[in-house]
Amino acid sequence: MRCDLITIFPEYFSPLELSLVGKAREKGLVDIYVHDLRDQVSGLHRSVDDTPFGGGPGMVMMAEPWARAIEQVAVHGGDTRPVLVMLTPAGEKFTQKIAEDLSTCEQIIFACGRYEGIDQRVTNYFSSDSKFVVRELSIGDYVLNGGEVAAMVILESMIRLIPGVVGNPLSLVEESHSLPDGSLEYPTYTKPASWRGLDVPEVLLSGNHALIHSWRMEQARIRSAGIARQTGE
Ligand code: 6GU
Repeated sequence: MRCDLITIFPEYFSPLELSLVGKAREKGLVDIYVHDLRDQVSGLHRSVDDTPFGGGPGMVMMAEPWARAIEQVAVHGGDTRPVLVMLTPAGEKFTQKIAEDLSTCEQIIFACGRYEGIDQRVTNYFSSDSKFVVRELSIGDYVLNGGEVAAMVILESMIRLIPGVVGNPLSLVEESHSLPDGSLEYPTYTKPASWRGLDVPEVLLSGNHALIHSWRMEQARIRSAGIARQTGE
């Protein structure tokens, strides 16, 4: 998989050299390229934004530098079309399902907007271009200063699904298949079995794997029900 990140803050992405993602890059499982949007503009200030038509606060990122940057990094002619991810709080809510879809793409281009966003015509233009698949994504119902952190969230969740990235593939199987719908977590414990007067649940010491499995599923259900109550879902 190839990922291209377009941003005015390339330094934001240095953590992608660490940990599992860094190792995946070293192993050649994913190629990540970070591009400075300002490379597309000349002039003293290399300005990429301007005031919004219709008035209002803040600045809007201009279409042409984005279009040039996107066209420059896009690789056509593979089995799948490049996916252009526009990061915006107004986008479709990112989920594990979307992470799974994206993890099989040949190329993903992340457009990390700042300020009050990118001129809407960039999304419209590439949506009507049959050489691209465009997705507007948000990582949740809150507003960030820009798309960079959101791109990192999406990258990390997607890259760990690429075969060979996570050391023990069984940890992915457990997360995605064998748990109640929409839940990922049952509580986990490690040694010592008794800690500050708190004991590990007896069942986990029983050695009865069928019993342990059903206990964990039940705990995951209880936790998910608690979260559903909190969020009203
Ligand atoms: Cl993708 N961008 C920004 N600026 N804020 C967000 C977001 C994205 N997702 C949630 N909040």
